[in-house]
Amino acid sequence: MADEVNETDVDTEKRRFLVVATSIIGGVGVVATAVPFVVSMQPSERAKAAGAPIEVDISKIEVGQKIDVEWRGKVVWLIRRTPEMLASLPKLDSRVADPKSEAPQQPKDCKNEYRSIKPELWVAVGICTHLGCSPTFRPEIAPADLGPDWLGGFFCPCHQSKFDLAGRVYKGVPAPLNLVVPTYKYLSDTLVRIGEETEAK
Ligand code: FES
Repeated sequence: MADEVNETDVDTEKRRFLVVATSIIGGVGVVATAVPFVVSMQPSERAKAAGAPIEVDISKIEVGQKIDVEWRGKVVWLIRRTPEMLASLPKLDSRVADPKSEAPQQPKDCKNEYRSIKPELWVAVGICTHLGCSPTFRPEIAPADLGPDWLGGFFCPCHQSKFDLAGRVYKGVPAPLNLVVPTYKYLSDTLVRIGEETEAK
């Protein structure tokens, strides 16, 4: 009789063990399937390469500084222009090929004298519109190699195209168009999302 009681106890224990073990295995299964789901909520590298927007913290860009980020596999520049840089732009209207940016090289909210949403921050794709080299940032005034008339801008070393500090191409150079300004919007005063346009009001 005592043996029968013991066997029943053992069976009960076994059942309990199986229930607990099944619950743990089930729990592991939930965790294991939950992780890929959470990961898939983030923009994947492939999605980013295909054009998912990126967010850039602009709070650390100093006045006069340029930073580079990558969007759609291309380099994108963000420059916090100085008042002097902005003041140089109208002086160059007669020397650039498309001073009013008539060609569609920028989103609608950047079709203005600064080619930007806010004058001080300029965002552009850092690729020459001639054959795709990367122009160099040359913010200095009248350097020896660019001449006394140079007020700051971008110089493409491949075939000597020149652009001003709004990416407007100079007349008489191989590049046919202004540098491209991508769509972007301000999420706050310090955060910009590149790849998404400001909603029309
Ligand atoms: S690629 Fe820039 S001038 Fe030719």
